[in-house]
Amino acid sequence: MIFDIDMIKKVYSQMAERVDAAKVATGKPLTLAEKILYSHLWDGKATKAFKRGADYVDFAPDRIACQDATAQMALLQFMQAGKKKVAVPTTVHCDHLIQAKIGADADLQNAINSSSEVFNFLASVSNKYGIGFWKPGAGIIHQVVLENYAFPGGMMIGTDSHTVNAGGLGMIAIGVGGADAVDVMAGMAWELKFPKLIGVKLTGKLSGWTAPKDVILKVAGILTVKGGTGAIIEYFGEGAKAMSATGKGTICNMGAEVGATTSTFGYDESMERYLRATGRDEVADEANKIAKYLTGDDEVYANPEQYFDQVIEINLSELKPHINGPFTPDLATPVGEIREKALANDWPLKVEWGLIGSCTNSSYEDLSRAASIAKQAVDKKLSAKAEFGINPGSEQVRFTAERDGLLDIFENLNTKIFTNACGPCIGQWDRAGADKQEKNTIIHSFNRNFSKRADGNPNTHAFVASPEMVAAIAISGKLDFNPITDKLINAEGVEVMFDEPTGFELPPKGFAVDDPGYVAPVEDGSNVSVVVKPDSKRLQLLESFVPIGENVKGAKLLIKAFGKCTTDHISMAGPWLKYRGHLDNISNNLLIGAVNAFNKETNKVQNQITGEYGTVPDTARAYKAAGIPSLVFGDHNYGEGSSREHAAMEPRHLGVAAVIVKSFARIHETNLKKQGMLGLTFANENDYDLIKEDDTFNFIDLNEFAPNKPLTLEIVHKDGTKDLIKLNHTYNENQIEWYKEGSALNLIKKENAS
Ligand code: F3S
Repeated sequence: MIFDIDMIKKVYSQMAERVDAAKVATGKPLTLAEKILYSHLWDGKATKAFKRGADYVDFAPDRIACQDATAQMALLQFMQAGKKKVAVPTTVHCDHLIQAKIGADADLQNAINSSSEVFNFLASVSNKYGIGFWKPGAGIIHQVVLENYAFPGGMMIGTDSHTVNAGGLGMIAIGVGGADAVDVMAGMAWELKFPKLIGVKLTGKLSGWTAPKDVILKVAGILTVKGGTGAIIEYFGEGAKAMSATGKGTICNMGAEVGATTSTFGYDESMERYLRATGRDEVADEANKIAKYLTGDDEVYANPEQYFDQVIEINLSELKPHINGPFTPDLATPVGEIREKALANDWPLKVEWGLIGSCTNSSYEDLSRAASIAKQAVDKKLSAKAEFGINPGSEQVRFTAERDGLLDIFENLNTKIFTNACGPCIGQWDRAGADKQEKNTIIHSFNRNFSKRADGNPNTHAFVASPEMVAAIAISGKLDFNPITDKLINAEGVEVMFDEPTGFELPPKGFAVDDPGYVAPVEDGSNVSVVVKPDSKRLQLLESFVPIGENVKGAKLLIKAFGKCTTDHISMAGPWLKYRGHLDNISNNLLIGAVNAFNKETNKVQNQITGEYGTVPDTARAYKAAGIPSLVFGDHNYGEGSSREHAAMEPRHLGVAAVIVKSFARIHETNLKKQGMLGLTFANENDYDLIKEDDTFNFIDLNEFAPNKPLTLEIVHKDGTKDLIKLNHTYNENQIEWYKEGSALNLIKKENAS
């Protein structure tokens, strides 16, 4: 048995008592999110109500999941904590380091050949410290978690921002940086600002071409990439119950794209069906016993405005299929309206590639609905005008889909079946011709479509849609094809139309798998050795960060980032993924994607020592070598995107003392704190405009760093004039200790030693 039924039984045995205590403490009925949060308090039963969006609260998550790119740094950090085993059930999943090029088998073998050092490291650390290990090819972390580990009412954290996918099975699952995961692995509490709550009431029922994906594409259009920040989105209503568990997973997955802390759904029959279909009758039986604690209270859903901070209502019967993009997932357009927008914005209408997969949409149901369109294409003598690729979500999905003939259907349409892995979703795509940087359009069922993300080409316009819509549009080769109204001409010159997609919520003959790709750890790992070669280019043992100090004076500007600055801009993925376990090497990508506000160019900043322009990493290294601290300034929602702590460790490693922005994405802000840096926001947003390229900066009162007390920064301009600005922060006492000790890990080590 891969899942931990004893742990689940323990959680459920405490749930009723803890939820009831929370009701008393808060004096009101509870949402599902509150039930899970209050039943996972580090201190046990609730004795008071927490203030949403304000109070920092310690939680005790039930599980941790890490993917191969982030696990390297997380486990390198955990190795420093001096523990024998992880304190909480943990798994590692090898899914990010597999490049899509030729097809599943060849690509997997290439990945094993090129990354064996990393895979062996992850396998041996997992074995040593009691961590479940999922081999390359086993599947995408969030699909594997949904199939094996997620359980209604549970709380998990994961070192990937789409950990939130497990909300599809009624969890509170949150993406964190590796440093947060290390805390919990080491037996410490996990701290989170008590989230606000957004309720999404789903009325009506999905039908025809409209899929669960369209719910979140619509929500993204409403909330934008910032609208969910600091909030949990809870879906409820008859429309929610009528949806499959994997469809719910899709919706929760892309909650990350609106910045939400996580998203979740109440336990229902679709979840029970999914648990049973994936071999977890015991979990379903246990959940049924406490079902009313695994969903929000009736009073809450009857009067949502009274209990949620914001309520959105969507009638699924009226919802239209959407296409979101390009370059941002919140630019939502109903399918029939995309032509006008594309023409107005000069987006290429010809579609070059259709891609189905990623943790968002790679379930059996997704493949079966897309296959129903592919089959019609073959039957109606249509060929795919665009190239077509698929990454199944897991070996279990792939094996079952192959057995049931779904993969044959795609192959009849010349589709490339890539490895069960992230592939093009994370830039692991050796796309022929991408280096020419030609303007082109692709459509995929993934979650993110930032510039360069899929193929490294900044001129690739990536649009996001449901798997069935991706299939239809890829076959038509036209972005403005609307399968509900438009006809296509087939090989015989006859006009044909697609019928509505059909599919299976769950495989009619049940799931099957030969080798799921799981390796359980040995009981006692004390004799397992973990090897990191000193001259390795891929892995580097960590050294403790030295505290930045009581004050920061004479700092120089490293970069004032202009506009969107995601973790992809700060620490690019794609070819850099191979250095995720080597801090010094990966630091050579520091902020190379960020736009310099002064020349609007990327990776070209002025070095104040020489006056010359250089790359961001070289300039940072020059300041560091000269003993000069540097600062980074940024715009709104700085650090949105992924949970990768490299985006915080790299500037820390290269001597950046503070990142000062208009606003932060939550995970990145926490990551900066964990690495012992300053993550600050302008008290007055307009002060961003005061920052000049050749300024010098002095912190005035950092030696009095305290919760709820703004800091003061003196800006000394080249002409001798000065500005004093106020900077806000969200550090609590403990986080200030992280800063003072040099990092959160330094504090853990200190506490372990004492
Ligand atoms: Fe992988 Fe893309 Fe999901 S990188 S974990 S498939 S968001």
